[in-house]
Amino acid sequence: MKSIVIVGFGGFGREVDWLARECGRAVLGFLDDNVPPGKKGNYTILGGLDAWSDYPDTEFVVAIGNPRVRKEIVEKLASQGVTDFATLIHPSVEMDESVDVGKGTMICAGSIATVDIVIGDHVILNLNVTVGHDDRIHDFVTVAPMVALSGNVILEQGVEVGTGAAIRQGITMACGSMLGMGGVQTKDSEANTIYIGSPAKPLKPLPEFI
Ligand SMILES: CC(C)(COP(=O)(O)OP(=O)(O)OC[C@H]1O[C@@H](n2cnc3c(N)ncnc32)[C@H](O)[C@@H]1OP(=O)(O)O)[C@@H](O)C(=O)NCCC(=O)NCCS
Repeated sequence: MKSIVIVGFGGFGREVDWLARECGRAVLGFLDDNVPPGKKGNYTILGGLDAWSDYPDTEFVVAIGNPRVRKEIVEKLASQGVTDFATLIHPSVEMDESVDVGKGTMICAGSIATVDIVIGDHVILNLNVTVGHDDRIHDFVTVAPMVALSGNVILEQGVEVGTGAAIRQGITMACGSMLGMGGVQTKDSEANTIYIGSPAKPLKPLPEFI
């Protein structure tokens, strides 16, 4: 199996370092435009994003929680010819073989996805997320720890769900929308809008997810 280079040396990036090692993958280090190259404790900063080409025989993961930033970076890498994105699924994750998971997607420890589920590319499912039957999780979605997605839920591209939130069965969260931590989504969301509370109500708009 190819070694891993992680893009983004933030808190989640370091969690993905652990995730990758738990998956039995060797981690070469991190790319981050905002951190000088060199050793940082147990971690190695290899360089900025442009240093990717020094690691041709490697798989990349973009470990940045914000869906808009993650998409921008994935598209930048892809436009420069990067095609090898790793799919990292922690060994403790339980899922049926009918669950389809895309490239560049990270599924953290303790999560469960039951049956007939499609999870797209560059998705983050953080710790202890439950994903119900027939859910559709599109590209660049970020789901924080302890979220419960009921069955037949659709999370369109770039949706973000905060820690401990819950989504009713059959609900669609439209492109680029967000449910804040602890929220309970009982109705379909409008695109590019933050919702909070139980039942969730709109808080404010977000930039368009494009
Ligand atoms: C919803 C959220 C995006 C709003 O953040 P923000 O735009 O910075 O908004 P603010 O913190 O200014 O809060 C605005 C108001 O909403 C309230 N609020 C914020 N988040 C809330 C939430 N999840 N539930 C209920 N009320 C919330 C604030 O208390 C504040 O109320 P006030 O106007 O009465 O003082 C953010 O609070 C949130 O939930 N982020 C997700 C965090 C998370 O899950 N991280 C996971 C990391 S792995």
